[in-house]
Amino acid sequence: MPECYARSCKLSARPGQLTISCAVPVSAAWPLQMVETDGGIRAVDWVWCDAASGRAGAMVPLPADTQSVRGRGIEVIIAANWKMNPPLADAAALAVAYAADSFDGVTRILFPPAPYLVQMGVRLDGTDMLVGGQDCHHNASGAHTGDVAAGMLADCGARVVLLGHSERRADHGEDDALVATKAAAALSAGLDVMICVGETLDQREAGSAEAVVTAQLEGSVPAGIDTSRLMLAYEPVWAIGTGKVAGVEEIAAMHAAIQQWLAKRDLASVPILYGGSVKPGNADAIFGVPDVGGALVGGASLKAEDFNGICSAGARAAAARS
Ligand code: 13P
Repeated sequence: MPECYARSCKLSARPGQLTISCAVPVSAAWPLQMVETDGGIRAVDWVWCDAASGRAGAMVPLPADTQSVRGRGIEVIIAANWKMNPPLADAAALAVAYAADSFDGVTRILFPPAPYLVQMGVRLDGTDMLVGGQDCHHNASGAHTGDVAAGMLADCGARVVLLGHSERRADHGEDDALVATKAAAALSAGLDVMICVGETLDQREAGSAEAVVTAQLEGSVPAGIDTSRLMLAYEPVWAIGTGKVAGVEEIAAMHAAIQQWLAKRDLASVPILYGGSVKPGNADAIFGVPDVGGALVGGASLKAEDFNGICSAGARAAAARS
């Protein structure tokens, strides 16, 4: 362990985490230790290093009263939902590729598998890309084998948590009431929430898409939520992973309906992302739809080139809107 570690540290703070970087040559990570910061001596749980550059750093969780993801006044939010992908080696390479670019007017969020949160967070440190959790438990702690509490996500650098994704609703039987309690838990832990809604093909064909989505909003969005802590993602289930993107008229109609619902609850400024087979080739058209505040990207986020192509479209949309 380099002795100069605590003394030669350069501090950089951003909401949700404090990073301590050291210009000392290191070849391996070392375990928990104490470092000296402006705020006094603190315990550091996670230390990382990059043997090639000789840079090392540590993440120190900060208290929960952090600025919201949207407090940055950014126009377009583009989130990568990796779901249960990819292997760690590919994840690290992807994060390096993400970190190499930035996009004016775009906030990027990465939702990696929970075990990768810290590693992805430190690799993206210093970039404009934040990390978030794909789900959280509705309790703060307890005997819930296999589950992750919102506070644990926050401790690992997450700033936001995705809730109510249709895959969680389908695979784990999560209903709107549970999503609302998870959202409350996440907010208490200082995380922003991105709540997903969307209809199945049967529901769309039955003409009940808007009613279904409105009911999901009613049940999933906690009453009295602070507007600045909420983002919504409209993801038609039939468009997820199928290559079938919703038509711009369908997206426009649903986003307008969601906007109306938000307005009735004094939540009008909440961004509504679209998700479902978003690709570089259709992103410009999707971002051209009024009320589309960004994209929640699954498959295409696993290829840096494709994700960057979508982010470039986001930057064009942000420039056109400003
Ligand atoms: P695809 O982009 O693979 O359709 O996935 C969308 C999604 O479910 C993002 O949460």
